[in-house]
Amino acid sequence: MKGTIHATDLICTHAEADLSTGFLSDEGVRCPLHLSVFNLENGEPQNPPAEIPLRVYNVKIQQDEIYVEV
Ligand code: FES
Repeated sequence: MKGTIHATDLICTHAEADLSTGFLSDEGVRCPLHLSVFNLENGEPQNPPAEIPLRVYNVKIQQDEIYVEV
């Protein structure tokens, strides 16, 4: 969702592609290697070949600082 900060694992659950080089859209983050899209709220893959959800982390913004619960 636009204007929202999400924190997820960096590496795709399918074949270890770096998702920071992927593509963001309203659907989520698209893996640059085989194009699975992961929902940024719950990490669920929206299409094959990925089947395993991406880990997502709680984010809190306080006084212009971003905190990620790991
Ligand atoms: S490495 Fe990400 S979908 Fe295959």
